[in-house]
Amino acid sequence: MRDDPIVLGIETSCDETGVGIVQGTTLLADAVASSVDEHARFGGVVPEVASRAHIDAMVPTIERACVDAGIGLRDVDAIAVTAGPGLAGALLVGVASAKALSVGLGVPIYGVNHLGAHVVVDELEHGVLPEAVIGLLVSGGHSSLVQLTTEGMHAMGATLDDAAGEAFDKVARLLGLPFPGGPWIDRTAADGDRQAIDFPRGLSGDRVRYPYDFSFSGVKTAVARWLEAHPDDPPVADVAASFQEAVVDVLTAKAIAACQDTGIDVLVIGGGVAANSRLRALAKERADAAGVRLRIPRPGLCTDNGAMVAAFGSRLVRDGVPSSGLDFPARSVLAVERAVVDEARPSWHST
Ligand code: KG4
Ligand code: ZN
Repeated sequence: MRDDPIVLGIETSCDETGVGIVQGTTLLADAVASSVDEHARFGGVVPEVASRAHIDAMVPTIERACVDAGIGLRDVDAIAVTAGPGLAGALLVGVASAKALSVGLGVPIYGVNHLGAHVVVDELEHGVLPEAVIGLLVSGGHSSLVQLTTEGMHAMGATLDDAAGEAFDKVARLLGLPFPGGPWIDRTAADGDRQAIDFPRGLSGDRVRYPYDFSFSGVKTAVARWLEAHPDDPPVADVAASFQEAVVDVLTAKAIAACQDTGIDVLVIGGGVAANSRLRALAKERADAAGVRLRIPRPGLCTDNGAMVAAFGSRLVRDGVPSSGLDFPARSVLAVERAVVDEARPSWHST
């Protein structure tokens, strides 16, 4: 029997230059170079700085991935690259590099949707996904609920304002914690009382109008107002724990509701915020209670990386999905439905 094809994936949508190599659902290499330290003093990712860092890191990261996988570039059977959504200049570096590799090696290329890759990456950890799953994608740039089936991806809901990770980062800043704030809130909250302050649960009161949408700017503002009202020596751990609880309560409640409403009993959580320990614990508790099977990749595969892009490419190869034409663009805004980016093809399986 022929071995599964080897897929090399490139990720440059934000501040991580990721190059992953996957064979079937086996991870061979996951090389990541991050420019996060260069952005820390600005309190957020600076697009131009990120783009330049991708250019510097691209070739060394490709070389490192090949060494780690014990392969040469000639062994690669297909290329996958994040075509969007993300920072335009950053995406262009990855897309241009991937096209060069595709032409140079004479192998097909898949321009893929970053959000889908955050779900499919779980195949590297827990094996091939079932025919239909609900995906909760929570990162610095996105918060979405999607349905992923063998036919493609469908958006069920998304944030109306801040992404979950963005709210974590902004609240961390209010609390004087470093950037990116999510992991700091997570750690700080471990010593706090999550019931100390009853912060608002955005959009959870209107299940009819907003069954699967999110809003996190309200809770962020509530934290700011609370801190203004308690200027002297605020209990940082309690604020962090209570804020974190408000966010993960809504995320998990809506994700489980999506499973129950659709009858789909597998929930995959991906994106940087899926590394959050309280999100993981509460999701497990609620999934068990609802009879939903929960799949969350290990934290290193939740934050941006090239392995997730390679995993998505590998699945598309396995499903026989046609590759992208070489003229596909980098798209900073990209609907969830556009799993594979190809100018001539609006969705996953249509040709
Ligand atoms: O998926 P990702 O690496 O990049 C984007 O596509 O945005 O997600 C980064 C986000 C940041 O906002 C970061 O603060 C958040 O994920 N994050 C966390 C944790 N680890 C990373 N948020 C909460 N708890 C964590 N442990
Ligand atoms: Zn991401």
